Amino acid sequence: MDYYAKLEESFQSELQSVSNTVELQTLLSKYIGKNGFITQKLKEMAAAPKEERAALGKAVNKLKCYIEEQGKEKKASLSKKDNRTYVDITLPGAYVKPGGRHPVKIVLNEIIDIFVSMGFAVEEGPEVETDFYNFEALNIPLNHPARDMQDTFYIKPLGAETPANSYRESNIVLRTHTSPVQIRIMEKKKPPLMFIAPGKVYRCDSDISHTPIFHQVEGLMVDEGITFANLKAVLEAFIHIVFGPDVPVRFRPSFFPFTEPSAEVDMGCFSCKGTGCRVCKNSGWIEILGAGMVDPRVFNKAGIDTNVYTGFAFGIGIERIASLKYGIDDIRLNYEGDLRFLRQF
Ligand code: PHE
Repeated sequence: MDYYAKLEESFQSELQSVSNTVELQTLLSKYIGKNGFITQKLKEMAAAPKEERAALGKAVNKLKCYIEEQGKEKKASLSKKDNRTYVDITLPGAYVKPGGRHPVKIVLNEIIDIFVSMGFAVEEGPEVETDFYNFEALNIPLNHPARDMQDTFYIKPLGAETPANSYRESNIVLRTHTSPVQIRIMEKKKPPLMFIAPGKVYRCDSDISHTPIFHQVEGLMVDEGITFANLKAVLEAFIHIVFGPDVPVRFRPSFFPFTEPSAEVDMGCFSCKGTGCRVCKNSGWIEILGAGMVDPRVFNKAGIDTNVYTGFAFGIGIERIASLKYGIDDIRLNYEGDLRFLRQF
């Protein structure tokens, strides 16, 4: 009988130190759980001498009832104090709408895939550039309109007092095109070179066809004997893969400081098939990208021997291709984060 008194005592003292429902549960199962002390005693009773059984049974049951009773009381007082939140894992979960790829990213990946399949490597360069790589090395002279403060975001040098965008003397800019990657790679690697450089570019401009941040894919191929015919072949193949094998392509003479000769590449308007409409501003043609043969001055700045090598370069505006592919009539829609727009792709 002494045994039960001790058991009750030890239960009492352990119960004192219980401070939450998890601890309480552990304590209760230690005493009256499947393998608890009390349950054990009840099992042992079967082996006790007949004359003791009744008394033992009474004692064990009394203690069991007592522990259950105490347990209930403790539980009630704990749940009053217990302010933890419990999760009902049987409730249906909150529905999280699945995301999707951004249209610009879809087109960007598709364009990268096309050039990689032709054998172009993929290179990258910094978005914060120096004046040298963004302009100087690309034969863009100091007074060229591309350097105008309306187009270029100048970075305020550390410690400068003038506001960033009036800092025309700053030689740090947000790159206005991906062409500086041409120079960085030509400085690092020897020809033959054949790579694209996709990435973000920045211009201080915003209207229906311009956003301050947009994407370009630069292309460069440099080797012995590269001609305009190679440029034509690569870009025609590219346009035919993106817009269909039958679309007409034309190379229209143009000017870029870093290519000579330069061309703007147009494709026949898919909307009116060349007869003239709103999409092509009645010209029957849609401008797709800029390209040309690398200007020898650019090679000189990058340390490439112009007696041995020639090359071509091109620059593709990704948002423009996405707009044409998906019929997006305001480029700014891409960056407004409106899910009704984004879910369509
Ligand atoms: N960098 C030019 C632009 O941003 C595009 C271009 C790239 C043109 C390479 C010719 C060759 O407008």
